[in-house]
Amino acid sequence: MIVPSIFALAVLARTASAAIASTFTTPAPAPTSESSFYVGAANTTITNSPIVPGLVFDRFIQIWLENTDFASAASQPVFQALAEQGITLTGYYGVTHPSEPNYLAAVGGDFFGLAADALEYIPTNISTIADLLDQKNISWATYQENMPTDGYEAYNYTNSDNYTYYVRKHNPLVIYESVANISTRSARIRNFNDFAVDVGNNSLSQWIFITPNLRDDGHDTSVGYAASWLNYWLLPLLNDTNFNTANTLILLTFDENETYTIGNNVFSLLLGGVIPQAQKNTTDATFYTHYSTLTTVQNNWDLGNLGRQDTNKTVSNVFDFVASHTSYKNNNLTASSTLPQLNITGTIPGPLNPDYYVPYLAPTNGTGGGSGPTFFASNVNMTLNSSDAPAPINITAATTTSSAAGLMSNAGSMITAIAVAAVAAMLF
Ligand SMILES: *[C@@H]1O[C@H](CO)[C@@H](O)[C@H](O)[C@H]1NC(C)=O
Ligand SMILES: *[C@@H]1O[C@H](CO)[C@@H](O)[C@H](O)[C@H]1NC(C)=O
Ligand SMILES: *[C@@H]1O[C@H](CO)[C@@H](O)[C@H](O)[C@H]1NC(C)=O
Ligand SMILES: *[C@@H]1O[C@H](CO)[C@@H](O)[C@H](O)[C@H]1NC(C)=O
Ligand SMILES: *[C@@H]1O[C@H](CO)[C@@H](O)[C@H](O)[C@H]1NC(C)=O
Ligand SMILES: *[C@@H]1O[C@H](CO)[C@@H](O)[C@H](O)[C@H]1NC(C)=O
Ligand SMILES: *[C@@H]1O[C@H](CO)[C@@H](O)[C@H](O)[C@H]1NC(C)=O
Ligand SMILES: *[C@@H]1O[C@H](CO)[C@@H](O)[C@H](O)[C@H]1NC(C)=O
Ligand SMILES: *[C@@H]1O[C@H](CO)[C@@H](O)[C@H](O)[C@H]1NC(C)=O
Ligand SMILES: *[C@@H]1O[C@H](CO)[C@@H](O)[C@H](O)[C@H]1NC(C)=O
Ligand SMILES: *[C@@H]1O[C@H](CO)[C@@H](O)[C@H](O)[C@H]1NC(C)=O
Ligand SMILES: *[C@@H]1O[C@H](CO)[C@@H](O)[C@H](O)[C@H]1NC(C)=O
Repeated sequence: MIVPSIFALAVLARTASAAIASTFTTPAPAPTSESSFYVGAANTTITNSPIVPGLVFDRFIQIWLENTDFASAASQPVFQALAEQGITLTGYYGVTHPSEPNYLAAVGGDFFGLAADALEYIPTNISTIADLLDQKNISWATYQENMPTDGYEAYNYTNSDNYTYYVRKHNPLVIYESVANISTRSARIRNFNDFAVDVGNNSLSQWIFITPNLRDDGHDTSVGYAASWLNYWLLPLLNDTNFNTANTLILLTFDENETYTIGNNVFSLLLGGVIPQAQKNTTDATFYTHYSTLTTVQNNWDLGNLGRQDTNKTVSNVFDFVASHTSYKNNNLTASSTLPQLNITGTIPGPLNPDYYVPYLAPTNGTGGGSGPTFFASNVNMTLNSSDAPAPINITAATTTSSAAGLMSNAGSMITAIAVAAVAAMLF
């Protein structure tokens, strides 16, 4: 019997959804307007600590689009126009395939071997950027288009038009139980009606992650559709001082490059009021990855680190725009260097890889973008660390001899159950 790998399933799923074509229709009169299309009513309950000034910026907003090769984005007029207002990062890379592990990496410093878009729950003792920001009372929030209620945990949400616009796999912080299980934190996983209200009240946080829905981010549509959404949503907000202050840095990026076999270079732009006139319409070829978003934020606010790939100097250069102000020393890799392979999927060991399973390991002491120490959650099991990591085991082989078909039809939830059970036994 032929059992397709998780990787192959992910490719099949993508090919099927990519066939849906449509033209962009505006969901609301303006990005600052509430809309029933966004589903959940706004909660006006967010309360932020006073602004904590950073060394270079006071607010960092990242906006993630989907599955587009560098050249496809660069050919769109809206990206060209935006590039004139910012710094194009020509050496920015996704860290693996498919989507979900890239999102996990950007907030947790690792993707734990994941090579699928499965329903995952990362245990409470695994830390994220939220822990580092909370240590310094720096406010944070994520805004997820078409997520029905704040902190919503289900796998996806289908609107009344029967279209599934929202997916959990693109909502990085909700997948970490150290965020989702704490009500004051899950309230910061917000929807687009909250966004409209928060911008209107001038109560946006200092660290913000924006996930447009499956059409607006180009996932189910095309880069041209995503470009239309940017015209509608981002362009006016760039002129709105409740969003883009003089001290705001914005990263517009893509989770991964569409073509798996040709590397994982994604079109990325730095924008925002903090970019000086002289640096607008320039390019920066320094080698960056999604881990660079962690180290740049750590460097700006002199934070601690997660002791994961955010302390791996090969893959975590700080954006030069920031590093040059703070005198942070990056490595010398650029887009034209021989770079690590960041398009590998399926063969990286980790607790979310059933073919090469190892338990969650404790963070490793190291240095990130700031001078602060590595963060260790109070409930982390320090016994298992990288120096005594057990050899990877294939838990798929160990548990599915009687039901390969079951694995094919329900790979995600089955793997999660096994992984969580194994982790519960070994880590807690
Ligand atoms: C608003 O917040 C309350 C209290 O946290 C929660 O019960 C409710 O689901 C939230 N509503 C939405 C639409 O997110
Ligand atoms: C949404 O989730 C359900 C299970 O909760 C699944 O059956 C369905 O395929 C998912 N749809 C999409 C588009 O992800
Ligand atoms: C959505 O699907 C349900 C059940 O199949 C159907 O009754 C309803 O008419 C559909 N609604 C729309 C807007 O297509
Ligand atoms: C933003 O402001 C600039 C400069 O005033 C103006 O040229 C541009 O049309 C404005 N863009 C939008 C979308 O309002
Ligand atoms: C990754 O991209 C390189 C080119 O940069 C290619 O040689 C290699 O085959 C790709 N690997 C995979 C697994 O697609
Ligand atoms: C995808 O990334 C590779 C490796 O960096 C790059 O050479 C290629 O141009 C990208 N794909 C496209 C179509 O732009
Ligand atoms: C931006 O740079 C490009 C390429 O160097 C150049 O053709 C274009 O005129 C520049 N745009 C502005 C507004 O300076
Ligand atoms: C650092 O990143 C490189 C490139 O991905 C990788 O080869 C290396 O194993 C990583 N080091 C550690 C300690 O994880
Ligand atoms: C970068 O290049 C400079 C000059 O060639 C060299 O002195 C420095 O050690 C290099 N830095 C790293 C981190 O390799
Ligand atoms: C990490 O470093 C701190 C400070 O040097 C030290 O107190 C702690 O014991 C170290 N932890 C591990 C697990 O090495
Ligand atoms: C793990 O076991 C499954 C099921 O027997 C098999 O299909 C897969 O190739 C194995 N993976 C590795 C890396 O051996
Ligand atoms: C920590 O992990 C080790 C190795 O799996 C295990 O022997 C130990 O019981 C765990 N400690 C706790 C407190 O769960």
